[in-house]
This record gives sequence, structure tokens and C-alpha cells, in this order.
Amino acid sequence: MSGSKINVAKQAINFLENKLSEKMIIGIGTGTTVNFFIEELKTYKHRFDGVVSSSDRSSAILKDAGIKVYELNGVNDIAFYIDGADEVSEDYSLIKGGGGAHTREKIVASASNHFICIVDKSKLVKNLGAFALPIEVIPESRSLVSRKILSLGGIPTYRQGFVTDQGNQIIDVTNLDLQNPLEVEYQINGIAGVVDNGIFAINKPKTVLVSD
Ligand code: A5P
Repeated sequence: MSGSKINVAKQAINFLENKLSEKMIIGIGTGTTVNFFIEELKTYKHRFDGVVSSSDRSSAILKDAGIKVYELNGVNDIAFYIDGADEVSEDYSLIKGGGGAHTREKIVASASNHFICIVDKSKLVKNLGAFALPIEVIPESRSLVSRKILSLGGIPTYRQGFVTDQGNQIIDVTNLDLQNPLEVEYQINGIAGVVDNGIFAINKPKTVLVSD
């Protein structure tokens, strides 16, 4: 499995190599696949300006690698955003948030000009939904959101002991009908107390790189 992740991380570097420029800012996602990408990116750190990171975990790894990490509020333009996913459907809709970082991941993805998703082929699915959908919630609203999810036919499970970088909690939801992911993304984000859910149908990747 790590061989596949290293392979797709190298594919992403090959894709980017001749597009890097001195003033370029790159968005960086979160997860084990992205960690391999950061390892590859290290070698090229003098060929771009810096990065915006989607999590405290990735920021720490990037800083250790000697790569400059900017706050999103401090940059105007993010050329590329590179991130993994938990599921990728045939139309490039995603489920993300297995690591609980999807809220900031979605923000950085939407701020970038070109989202490149990097996955091994085990993440490819016909339709989304086998992977439990993570929903970040304001702690006080967890029970309320869980009841609303039950009324939509979903089965919510509280991710015990996990706190997001924003100080919130995660509910993982199974049994939802995700045949129309765009509609469900909007519907869940319309529930009071939801910060964001892990469906990426509004902010789909432009490029999906896959390894065996
Ligand atoms: C982080 O919250 C997630 O969105 C990750 O991008 C996703 O879980 C993929 O992670 P791996 O690369 O570790 O499989």
C-alpha cells in the first residue's frame, strides 16, 4: 500500500515539475499519501515560494522539511492544491475527512486554481458511500445534528476522543444515499451546527492521479 502511495506522489511531482515558478504558492492537503508527496516536494523547495497547508499535522511536516508555510489569509493565489481522498467516484466527486481535516482541505481546495487529487486505485468507486461520511460539527450541536442525520436515513457515529484543528467534533455517517453528492453536500451543510461535511462535489478535482 505505501508503495502505491509513493508511486502516486511521484506522479504528482512529475506533473508539477515543469510548472513550478519562483513566486508560486502550492496548497497541501493532509494524510499519508500527501506525506509522501511532501517528501518528494522537499527536493524542489527552491523552485517555488511556499505553501498553504490544510492541517496542523501537514504544517509541522512541511516546516520540518524546510518549506515556507503561509496562512491562507496572507496569500492571493494558490496555483495548485494537492491532496488525497477516501473515495473518488467516476465523476470525480470525493469523500474526504478520514483524518478529520476536510473543512480546511475544502477551503484550500476552493482557493486554488487547480486541484490535483492523488490516490491509489483502492479509493476508486462507482458511487460514493461505502466510506463513512465525516461531518465536522460545533461540539454543542452534536446530538442535534445526529438527530437530523437520522431523519435523512443516515446512521451517525461520534468519533470519540477526536478534536479537529478548529476545536470541533466529528460524526461519521453511514447509510446515506449519495447518488446525488452535490445535493447532499448542500443539504448537510444546511443543518445548523454543521461546520462542513466531507463530500467534495462543489469543489471537485480537475486532475485525479491514480496508482496501482
Ligand atoms: C484527511 O482528513 C483526509 O481527507 C485525507 O485526505 C484522506 O483521508 C486520505 O488520506 P490517506 O492519504 O491517508 O489515505
